[in-house]
Amino acid sequence: MKVDVLLGLQWGDEGKGKVVDVLTPRYDAVARFQGGPNAGHTLEFEGKKYVLRSIPSGIFQDGQVNIIGNGVVLDPVLFQEEAEALERSGVDLKKVLKLSKKAHLILPTHRLLDAANEKAKGGAKIGTTGKGIGPTYTDKVSRNGLRLGDIEHDFTAKYAAARDRHLSILRQMGETPDISELESRWLAAIDYMKGYEIVDSEHLINGLLRDGKSVLCEGAQGTMLDVDFGSYPFVTSSNTVCAGACAGLGVAPNRIGEVFGIFKAYCTRVGSGPFPTELHDETGKRIRDLGHEYGAVTGRERRCGWIDLVALKYAIMINGVTQLIMMKSDVLDDFDEVKACVAYKINGKETKAFPYSIEDGTVEPVYASLPGWKKDMTAFRSEEEFPEAFRNYIDFLEAELETPITIVSIGPDREQTIIRSKK
Ligand code: GDP
Ligand code: IMO
Ligand code: MG
Repeated sequence: MKVDVLLGLQWGDEGKGKVVDVLTPRYDAVARFQGGPNAGHTLEFEGKKYVLRSIPSGIFQDGQVNIIGNGVVLDPVLFQEEAEALERSGVDLKKVLKLSKKAHLILPTHRLLDAANEKAKGGAKIGTTGKGIGPTYTDKVSRNGLRLGDIEHDFTAKYAAARDRHLSILRQMGETPDISELESRWLAAIDYMKGYEIVDSEHLINGLLRDGKSVLCEGAQGTMLDVDFGSYPFVTSSNTVCAGACAGLGVAPNRIGEVFGIFKAYCTRVGSGPFPTELHDETGKRIRDLGHEYGAVTGRERRCGWIDLVALKYAIMINGVTQLIMMKSDVLDDFDEVKACVAYKINGKETKAFPYSIEDGTVEPVYASLPGWKKDMTAFRSEEEFPEAFRNYIDFLEAELETPITIVSIGPDREQTIIRSKK
């Protein structure tokens, strides 16, 4: 069997959580492969709303195995909060969720380091989610990290060594925090985590595949936030791209099947960093209001702009996307005109190739303008109902992106999802 991968093609918040939930019934297992509680995935069904951060978005369906892979970083305190909320709403989490022994732990001092690093950068700050993501992945790569599996292996000494190392760095940065309260809360959460099955997840996943079971790998963030291919240094600290699923789960590259790439019918970004199609005008504000573009984790306003096909094509190439999923089409329902960036003008020259740098002021977007469809699509349940102007928009995107759009989302609810018939 092969694994399918579902990942974001823009700067995150494309609607990955919603679609993973919708696709889960097709699979036997769902596995998160990178990122941590910097993610915030909102799911809506049966009149209720749920926000997931570290836990895969497959937990609400029919008892599929849900796996947090080795590529994920976990904050025990946030994990406990998220897990307890889910248990309260009736999810039998301990039964369906398996955690990788090799997943790295976010320590309280990692969060303090994240804040101190941002402060030290001043005006050049990344605008991180403040969850300690960068420092935790830094420790992983510099071989100073603490893993979930360490809970059973000389944990107290390993924890104390990592904490003291962090405190010494913080002191050098002029910070002298009192962490006693944070620490006792964190250690209590470590105890809570012992109630879950902590497994060799690479064996679990490959065993499932050997037994003919199907697995959906769930990405967090988006390709433009990838540490190698995103708008560096304004990125996250993991590989959000398809290859990240191999390293973050122990799945071999020749096991990758379908790659679902998700994008919004427009584009958003939270935090700092370049964004060529950003709109600072009324249209940007209108998209933000209609799309409720405020972060689920930090509550921050998301920056909004038109869809960027140059960046999307690059993301499709890097990930080997086989099927596209377009989200939040309904947000543009009432626009007279919809624009799409089809090329960049750099130093007076037009290009369709995504460049090394998209630093502010260096890239001028070249737009195509399409007529809006001016129709409320939120109650539609089949593609036959799509207005002609919307069909034209889909045809235009498919031709530009040379990849089929197989799912169209027209509202936040599970039911507001249109699976298109294959041509
Ligand atoms: P994720 O991080 O990729 O899972 O995306 P988020 O959950 O952070 O952001 C997507 C937001 O859009 C959530 O609030 C969803 O409930 C909402 N959403 C998802 N799909 C649609 C859609 O098709 N239309 C509208 N209006 N909202 C949507
Ligand atoms: P989901 O999974 C949108 C952004 C932050 C910041 C940068 C680095 O919900 O799509 P970090 O805390 O990772 O060091 O922050 O990345 N960022 C996200 N933006 N959606 C996310 O996740 C994000 N996770 C991180 O805003 O610019
Ligand atoms: Mg999100």
